[in-house]
Amino acid sequence: MADTPNTPLLTVDKLGVRFAVKRGGGWGKRAFLYAVDDVSFTVNRGETLAIVGESGSGKTTAALAVARLTAAYTGSVKLDGQELLGLEGEELRQARNKVQFIFQDPYSSLNPRQRAEDIVREPLVSLTDKSGAEQQQIIDRLFAEVGLRPEQKRLFPHQFSGGQRQRIGIARALATQPQLIICDEPVSALDVAVQAQILNLLRDLQSELGLTYLFISHDLGVVQHMCDSIAVMYMGRIVEHTDRLSLFNNPLHPYTKALLSAVPSVDKKRRAETKRILIPGDPPDPVNLPPGCRFANRCPAATDVCRQSEPPLTDHGGYHRVACHLVNDSKTAAI
Ligand SMILES: Nc1ncnc2c1ncn2[C@@H]1O[C@H](COP(=O)(O)OP(=O)(O)OP(=O)(O)O)[C@@H](O)[C@H]1O
Ligand code: SF4
Ligand SMILES: [Mg+2]
Repeated sequence: MADTPNTPLLTVDKLGVRFAVKRGGGWGKRAFLYAVDDVSFTVNRGETLAIVGESGSGKTTAALAVARLTAAYTGSVKLDGQELLGLEGEELRQARNKVQFIFQDPYSSLNPRQRAEDIVREPLVSLTDKSGAEQQQIIDRLFAEVGLRPEQKRLFPHQFSGGQRQRIGIARALATQPQLIICDEPVSALDVAVQAQILNLLRDLQSELGLTYLFISHDLGVVQHMCDSIAVMYMGRIVEHTDRLSLFNNPLHPYTKALLSAVPSVDKKRRAETKRILIPGDPPDPVNLPPGCRFANRCPAATDVCRQSEPPLTDHGGYHRVACHLVNDSKTAAI
């Protein structure tokens, strides 16, 4: 495949991940929790796809399945044209090399007994054949790239601030020059001012190095300056998926509208006009999902058809995909 922008690096098709759970005491029947259900998306080279949704919607599970760190029971994950599901042994190790994670919590994801430079060195040792001198060169360059000083290489994680620790995590993720970087809530554990610094660093590294990101967040505010396209997940499914501007300027799914209403706008006029939509109630039991739309018990526009049949994810023009029976209906337009 030619290495040009706007061609998909990652293509995920009808991905499904389920967990066996026990229900009802010791002799309870085995049931499945469908954490990721029929999920399809692509991420273009050098671009960022954000996956957003509230806690438990399946964001992390989908990302872990892409990286082959949790098992998918169905679907396809193609990275640079290579099918990853089904790979084993050395081929799987090579493929894992091409995908790296930046985790939410820079406190617990770094080994407290390792010096910063050894944390960054670790993937070079376990995943590459680089010599000691080559490893040191890469480490020195990465420290400069993520904004850490050379003398900080010898320090331990507790000697860094939260933001600096996340910089170490970013350097570690970049070490093997992965094709895809999965950022799972990379700034949620940080102070707001530090969040902006880390987001800027990720953006700068992307333009310098041509990186491709899958960026997970529960907060649309965090991703609004960070992504090219957005997939909104609810209860294991994508409910809306389009480019960033369309999602922010013309959200079509009632759940997306509610999420967006919670994002403070920088535009004063817009801020005054936007009413905060509170989503009533709780999501349904993920092990015992209702027959129709999974959002129906919380949706102000729900009708009988919503409660009877599950809305498919369909394209409403210009690759604006929405899973709602009443897209463009006056009931949902009024939300
Ligand atoms: N190993 C597991 N065994 C059983 N259920 C699991 C497992 N991992 C995740 N789940 C369930 O799968 C669903 C999706 O979880 P997941 O962690 O992917 O959500 P998330 O969108 O990343 O949430 P958060 O924003 O809280 O990180 C949840 O209902 C969760 O309880
Ligand atoms: S299908 Fe019905 S219940 Fe579901 S989001 Fe659309 S209007 Fe609401
Ligand atoms: Mg998660």
